[in-house]
Amino acid sequence: MSASPASSSSPGPPSPSASSPSPTADSAVFTPPRLDGRTIAITGTTSGTGRVMASRCGMQGARIILLNRPSARADTALRELRGAGVDVVAVPCDLQSFDSVRAAARMLTEICPNGWTCCATTPA
Ligand SMILES: NC(=O)c1ccc[n+]([C@@H]2O[C@H](COP(=O)([O-])OP(=O)(O)OC[C@H]3O[C@@H](n4cnc5c(N)ncnc54)[C@H](OP(=O)(O)O)[C@@H]3O)[C@@H](O)[C@H]2O)c1
Repeated sequence: MSASPASSSSPGPPSPSASSPSPTADSAVFTPPRLDGRTIAITGTTSGTGRVMASRCGMQGARIILLNRPSARADTALRELRGAGVDVVAVPCDLQSFDSVRAAARMLTEICPNGWTCCATTPA
């Protein structure tokens, strides 16, 4: 006896080819938009969601500003993203220090005179 290949009750993530009431949402998820010409500043890119954001947005063409406190992990993130072909700039930023955050904001203003999108992925 064989299982039905088209069983509608089978578990698992939705497939892009599955019929959906929301083709717009599907296309956004499975075909992320190009981000050429955009600059995105991301906090906490040494691991987790910030690291994934930096990689995904960078591979879609955005210039990525890494806002990390100085560390070997921060150096590794910069090196790996650059090695993957991402246009990436590191700006030191320790979110536990107002002085560091102000200095990072000044650097961002110099680096991105036309503005940027900021994405915070750091634990509160
Ligand atoms: N992962 C998930 O699925 C998920 C889902 C929902 C919500 N969240 C929330 O999203 C946030 C991030 O989660 P995550 O899993 O991505 O965490 P994570 O892997 O621990 O990454 C945290 C990042 O924040 C940085 N960071 C910590 N303190 C900092 C500081 N003072 N200045 C600058 N950077 C600092 C860390 O850098 P260092 O290397 O310097 O420590 C690291 O890059 C958390 O608040 C979490 O609760 C996560």
